Amino acid sequence: MELQDNIREAARILSGAKNIVGFTGAGTSAESGIPPFRGEGGIWNQYDPNSLDIDYYYRHTKDSWKIIREVFYNFFSNNAIQPNPGHRVLAKWEQEGRLSCVITQNIDDLHTVAGNKTVYEFHGNMSRFVCTKCGRKVDAKRLKLTEEPPHCEHCGGLMKPDFIFFGEGIPEDAYYGSVKAAEKCDAFVIIGTSGQVSPANMIPGIAKRNGAKIIEINMEPSTYTNYITDVYLQGKSGEILPKIDALMEQA
Ligand code: APR
Repeated sequence: MELQDNIREAARILSGAKNIVGFTGAGTSAESGIPPFRGEGGIWNQYDPNSLDIDYYYRHTKDSWKIIREVFYNFFSNNAIQPNPGHRVLAKWEQEGRLSCVITQNIDDLHTVAGNKTVYEFHGNMSRFVCTKCGRKVDAKRLKLTEEPPHCEHCGGLMKPDFIFFGEGIPEDAYYGSVKAAEKCDAFVIIGTSGQVSPANMIPGIAKRNGAKIIEINMEPSTYTNYITDVYLQGKSGEILPKIDALMEQA
């Protein structure tokens, strides 16, 4: 029963931790109905990642916008996307003072919706749009998203989702906040990420080098598993996180 033993070991480590940091990828939202990017049913198996390249968005705006609208906005509006039990455990741990923050690669806003207050959005957030000309930001819910990409009501400039396209820099507050959090934590939980994309994928190594215990939850081994992970839990995060939390309650 290796998984059960590892769940017990993870609960032991996390019960005694003073500063837990969560580090999440697309797999964390899979049980909310959002497909991951890679692996089985991955978005990049159906769509060309180039459609999310910033130069492509500027040069082929209509084509790029068509895919972005379909993959992200139509999908969200056609499906009742809600946080899953895994998101809720991370919010509970923050409310209990166990967890200091979540560093997420996800753009779906689900950690904030679940109740986490300190969320470093390493790749931005699809619930906002930003004007590429004047920088004005607006809530996506305030825009009527049509075949035409939205334009700024203030300056008329082309708007884009406020998430990071390939070729764009990481938001400074998210980057430096994440590095500092990884340096200070004593337990770092990697959840549902393949570890393929930099510079996000260098954050777990910072936690490791600063002495944090690394716990990883994934459906399959990632680039971290045989390299920095101390406790590997194979399975769905929406099932495993509540099991860990239940044992922590008993500790
Ligand atoms: N529970 C736990 N892990 C899961 C689950 C689940 N229910 N479902 C899938 N996974 C795992 C997969 O095994 C895989 O290792 O989640 C991981 C998802 O990997 P990716 O799809 O590569 O997602 P991520 O690592 O977040 O991608 C990083 O790539 O395209 C860019 O900007 C995009 O933020 C994204 C970045």
